[in-house]
Amino acid sequence: MIQTIRGFRDILPEDIALWQKIEKTASELFDNFGFREIRLPILEKTELFARSIGETTDIVEKEMYTFPDRKGDKLTLRPEATASVVRSYIQHKMYAADPVRKFYTIGPMFRRERPQKGRYRQFYQIDAEVFGVSSPYIDAELILILNELFKRLGLSGLKAHINSLGCPECRPVFQKALKDFLTLNYDRLCPDCKRRMEKNPLRTLDCKSLSCRKALENAPSTLGHLCNECSEHFEIVKKMLVKQNVDFIVDKTLVRGLDYYSRTAFEILTTSLGAQSAVAGGGRYDSLVKELGGKDIPAIGFAIGFDRLTEIMAQVKKSDEKPGLDIFIIAIGKQAMEPGYLWMSELNLAGIKSEMDFSGRSLKSLMKRADKLNAGHVLIAGDREINENALIFRNMNTRKQNIIPMDNIIKDIKKLLKKE
Ligand code: HAM
Repeated sequence: MIQTIRGFRDILPEDIALWQKIEKTASELFDNFGFREIRLPILEKTELFARSIGETTDIVEKEMYTFPDRKGDKLTLRPEATASVVRSYIQHKMYAADPVRKFYTIGPMFRRERPQKGRYRQFYQIDAEVFGVSSPYIDAELILILNELFKRLGLSGLKAHINSLGCPECRPVFQKALKDFLTLNYDRLCPDCKRRMEKNPLRTLDCKSLSCRKALENAPSTLGHLCNECSEHFEIVKKMLVKQNVDFIVDKTLVRGLDYYSRTAFEILTTSLGAQSAVAGGGRYDSLVKELGGKDIPAIGFAIGFDRLTEIMAQVKKSDEKPGLDIFIIAIGKQAMEPGYLWMSELNLAGIKSEMDFSGRSLKSLMKRADKLNAGHVLIAGDREINENALIFRNMNTRKQNIIPMDNIIKDIKKLLKKE
């Protein structure tokens, strides 16, 4: 049997309602805040990701699905959306009419990581990006939106971790301090970090190896080296979050796994998937538009791990599940089969989701099936009910039963559903 590739999976019909609910809640919220949807290709030139995410990151060094196409061009299945949104913003000169733009996009991303709960090789992100605003109020707004989305989805206990990574003004001073620290602790670093420390010392702070994490416990932090402007910026972000009751902590160890960030960086962390993991992450990337060939336009954004979000929600929410269908028609005996089929069709055409079983099984086993399908109601038509022109319409939640005649059955059902 041919099966899915490791780390790739099907999202099955029984899980789709949750995915759609999240998508709907997110797009309504984005709409409220003036974001517009954008849809982008999943295949891009490798160079786009190498130049934006950074040559020395885990994503680019180890995790991208890269291959030559038939003409030899190097292509990559997108590992994230930000680089593509920036490419599109520049390619279509979207800044010309108005540099201030807000986008969101939802779709699959690909990273060849070690699969585990909440970590897949094809996973989905809900991504939001804002261009053209350097003010810290937008940083706060994005974290507020994340907070609000989780609230609307009924999740609590998620915490925003925030940090400031400085800017091209203050970053070199910090990098020098970090390099000095790394040189002193060189023997304790993993081979990757020994190699990366010259080119990109910040990456060592994001290393997952235990020996590095121990060695870097007392490493200098970006927060200790911010210039005045970066400090002021960060202060306003924090002040706004306090004013808007967003639960957050300042986490000086948060550096993010991608190179393009400057100033505010954030992650929303949860422990409900086992070890602590991020359900969303983002930050400011003020230099990226220019670095990719555009104008000097600031930007900031975030991405939510859609798969992780569904897994957290599936744990929390079981109780307020919507019925799988409105009516399950239980037709017992030959007489009931034909009218049962016609009622089902009419109900479905009228927008009342109905199903029926044609196997002629017993009442008991059909009631079990109605339960399994999570039907809101059953309509029972056996020989006796048909002969007496009195069908049973039963609410599966309240167990209330109504007797209805066959003549105006669709109208009667509509009326009863309306009354509930
Ligand atoms: P990221 O932190 O690499 O940021 O990914 C964002 C979120 O995607 C993570 O917090 C996690 O929930 C989810 N995620 C990442 N990898 C996987 C995986 N293998 N399986 C399941 N979920 C995963 C970015 O991608 C940036 N582009 C975010 C951003 C937007 N920054 C600015 N704008």
